[in-house]
Amino acid sequence: MSEVLLEVVDAEFRYARGLPPAATGINLQVRPGDSVGIVGESGSGKTTVGRGLVGSLFPSSGSVLVQGRGWKGVRRRDPVRRIVQMVFQDPYASLNPMLSAQATVAEVIRVWDGAKPSVAASRAEQVLAEVGLTGEVIRRRPALLSGGQRQRVGIARALACEPQVLVADEPTSALDVSVQANVLNLLLDLKASRGLALVLISHDLSVVDYLTDRALVMLNGEVVEHGDTHTLLQNPSHEYTKTLISSIPGSSLANA
Ligand SMILES: Nc1ncnc2c1ncn2[C@@H]1O[C@H](COP(=O)(O)OP(=O)(O)OP(=O)(O)O)[C@@H](O)[C@H]1O
Ligand SMILES: [Mg+2]
Repeated sequence: MSEVLLEVVDAEFRYARGLPPAATGINLQVRPGDSVGIVGESGSGKTTVGRGLVGSLFPSSGSVLVQGRGWKGVRRRDPVRRIVQMVFQDPYASLNPMLSAQATVAEVIRVWDGAKPSVAASRAEQVLAEVGLTGEVIRRRPALLSGGQRQRVGIARALACEPQVLVADEPTSALDVSVQANVLNLLLDLKASRGLALVLISHDLSVVDYLTDRALVMLNGEVVEHGDTHTLLQNPSHEYTKTLISSIPGSSLANA
């Protein structure tokens, strides 16, 4: 078996002492090339787990290990931070409005690799081409890009760190239906071409079914079901999973 890149062991996450945990009993292993879905209704704890995976939230108990190390104590510029990168739901809010697409990506390359500005700019051009952005478009600021183009910039920015795991939190839910499939297919292509592992967070089971091999189903901060994505969909054992499936348009359980 290949090495474990990211491991969550019986983790619980809380935002404040007095509050109930936002997620609890979380266990997950991510190896190179894996694709794992985290699915559940709004407020079920998906983003909380995603934040735990990238180290922006520490577990209140249990552990999150990246290549065997806990996030606590990992400095801002520790190379281990490159391994897991996040793609956010709202590309507009997560991009600097003052920077062009190329400058956004070049900045990451400059900071992480200490590359000279001219070198960083040309490497940024290559990464942007990898996500399908070429020509004068890469010199535009976010306000002059479409939603789909902005999300491609967000993906390129994550790739600029040369990550091994991408955690994508609802990467298409802010996008027009017509471009959602393009961005999902881009993630699939990058997964194949770069050998990336993907953790896909979505409330949409059909998206999780399309992109992932394994999935966790969350409800009220707990994992109520996990396993092979297709098996889960074909043969849900938890009532809640059945309810989620029945909400997929065209699902055989849709009218059940
Ligand atoms: N910064 C925060 N401070 C306090 N509580 C929070 C914070 N962020 C989330 N929560 C709470 O943690 C729980 C899980 O929220 P989380 O954002 O992980 O859900 P989610 O599954 O990602 O939902 P959505 O599908 O709406 O994005 C919710 O009860 C939420 O109110
Ligand atoms: Mg969320």
